[in-house]
Amino acid sequence: MELDELEKDLTEKVSAASDEAALEGLRVHALGKKGVISEKMKVLGKVSPEERKTLGPALNGLKTRIGDAIAARKIVLEDAALEARLATEKVDITLPVRPVQKGRIHPVTQVMEEIAAIFADMGFEIREGPDIEDDFHNFTALNFPPDHPAREMHDTFFFNEKEDNSRMVLRTHTSPVQIRTMMNEKPPLRVIIPGRTYRCDSDQTHTPMFHQVEGLVIDKTTHMGHLKGTLKEFVAAFFEVDSVETRFRPHFFPFTEPSAEMDVKYERMGNEIRIGQGDDWMEILGSGMVHPNVLRNCGLDPDEYQGFAFGMGVDRLAMLKYGIPDLRDFFAADARWLEHYGFDPLDQPNTATGLSR
Ligand code: DAH
Repeated sequence: MELDELEKDLTEKVSAASDEAALEGLRVHALGKKGVISEKMKVLGKVSPEERKTLGPALNGLKTRIGDAIAARKIVLEDAALEARLATEKVDITLPVRPVQKGRIHPVTQVMEEIAAIFADMGFEIREGPDIEDDFHNFTALNFPPDHPAREMHDTFFFNEKEDNSRMVLRTHTSPVQIRTMMNEKPPLRVIIPGRTYRCDSDQTHTPMFHQVEGLVIDKTTHMGHLKGTLKEFVAAFFEVDSVETRFRPHFFPFTEPSAEMDVKYERMGNEIRIGQGDDWMEILGSGMVHPNVLRNCGLDPDEYQGFAFGMGVDRLAMLKYGIPDLRDFFAADARWLEHYGFDPLDQPNTATGLSR
């Protein structure tokens, strides 16, 4: 009689359980280690064998039926929960679309993509390196002698000294990735290296963070003629003109010998700058034949290997190509500026259909 009442009570409670947590509470209450049914099982050992014959099966039956009722209720509750979730996540696909707010690609990103597309066509691959560099990669391996004024020339951002007195730097150029590439890979190498660079400098034409693309070619036969041909081809493709008059002017970089800056002819028409022709020269990039010391520092034998390198400022190239007047606006995060000077995300630059349209 007592068992019948208990079963009735538990069964009613199970069907009334309104969520899975309540049901689990009931399961523990009935069938858990210290649950009401389990407690009753414990007295089985203390009753007479006669009584045990009837009480045993009765308790086992109760246990099974309550267990089944809980399992059945659980499925009902799970289904209901899923239905409720599906109802809240329902999307009416017959509704008209709302106008999509499109993002714009920043001119720096666009120009990096353009540069990558041009060099990819010439068989270059992309490499990248860390923004935080050590002295070895940023200076020493690139043949900057210790305490050489060229180190100061870069207005370096230094981190605090470490215990061994060394200091990490924010890389002042993308050239350290040349070193990483030559030390980690076997020539022939033909890579460009886009990235952020940092110098403690801020005025109308300088920002503390700016962007460069580095280039590196290493094999056994590449010479200065290849350097000139590659870079002339590059500027014509980049400015999307048939030909550009260029001039290679001797210069000094510790990591190249000989070194040259490349200038392009341009003319100013009112506010507009036309690249390729005219009477004035404008400096576009630095370049040179990789210095034997740099090759040696990377474990390459300069009697066997040679090649050229170059580096260019991406922000300035973007200003020149797209007539953007002030560098500092690049980093002002002004949505109206980006709407005006930015690019359609779906217009991926490529040299087949034209870099820009
Ligand atoms: N690292 C130089 C700079 O930031 C640019 C440069 C010049 C890179 C000549 C080169 C190079 O690889 O050959 O001013």
